[in-house]
Amino acid sequence: MSRFPAYRPRRLRRSEALRRLVRETRVDAAQLVQPLFVVPGRGVEKPVASMPGIAQRSVERTAEECRRLRDLGVPAVILFGVPERKDARGSGATDPEGIIPRALGAIREAAPGLLLVTDVCLCEYTDHGHCGLVKDGDVDNDPTLQLLAGEAVAHARAGADVIAPSDMMDGRVGAIRTALDAAGFAHLPIMAYAAKFASAFYGPFRDAAESTPQFGDRRSYQMDPANAEEALREVALDIEEGADIVMVKPALPYLDIVRRVKERFGYPVAAYHVSGEYAMVKAAAERGWIDEARVVEESLTAIRRAGADVIITYFAQDVARGLGRR
Ligand code: PBG
Repeated sequence: MSRFPAYRPRRLRRSEALRRLVRETRVDAAQLVQPLFVVPGRGVEKPVASMPGIAQRSVERTAEECRRLRDLGVPAVILFGVPERKDARGSGATDPEGIIPRALGAIREAAPGLLLVTDVCLCEYTDHGHCGLVKDGDVDNDPTLQLLAGEAVAHARAGADVIAPSDMMDGRVGAIRTALDAAGFAHLPIMAYAAKFASAFYGPFRDAAESTPQFGDRRSYQMDPANAEEALREVALDIEEGADIVMVKPALPYLDIVRRVKERFGYPVAAYHVSGEYAMVKAAAERGWIDEARVVEESLTAIRRAGADVIITYFAQDVARGLGRR
């Protein structure tokens, strides 16, 4: 059975040049997306305590940061907005003068060429913190679709390059596609958070986006972490409804899903390496318990190896700076 001693796998591990030559998977900054949090005000740059290296920034500071990121070689950012005022219907989300449309205008000017992805959801805009309209204590699916579609069109009009719905309402990709097409944005791609799990790894994000649900949790719309077959059905639906890129989220605990989605559909797959995954690495590295650069490189390589084309990660800026390159 064994081909040893004719086959000795160690022969190709003898030098870094050889290892690089036969390496199957590479992490390229060109495939990374940096998340950014935009808040009201001027001159605001407020570090997020649970995410060292990440800050909430006002519009003009975000635009400056975007120029820095673009110059470093980060190709894309995904924008999350915190509005001035929150209300039950999340009105700030569809406002053509809202926080994200304003940020898009400023970034376009400061950093032409940077790809601008916008997260489309209501949780940052509603006073109850849920991702849709609430009726009798439950998130009301169908009336929410129109608001999400309005939000997507507002982002498109303000210059978004990619629309990324993260709400997990049924039918929202179709509703957004129809509205974008009708508004003259048939060319604009949708990156759907297709298999988004109700995860404990989103904790730090909710501090950064100020989007913690004020009652209950998101388990009636985000997926049960136990379900892989259902994830494939969710992805199939989003593709039928017009998604161009399908996302799995979180990343490392869900690499089996990433792999199956890639194999089953052959679509561009994005994986969201989320806030909790970032925070754990930062916390352990601060204590000197792990080598951050190596852990980051290994983690992103694993996500790519599983089948992700695109990785949304808070480490994009560090990778572009060359951290972890060896
Ligand atoms: C909004 C949204 C969330 C994330 C991305 N979009 C939070 C949530 O669903 O509660 C999480 C990202 C992260 O943890 O880094 N719906």
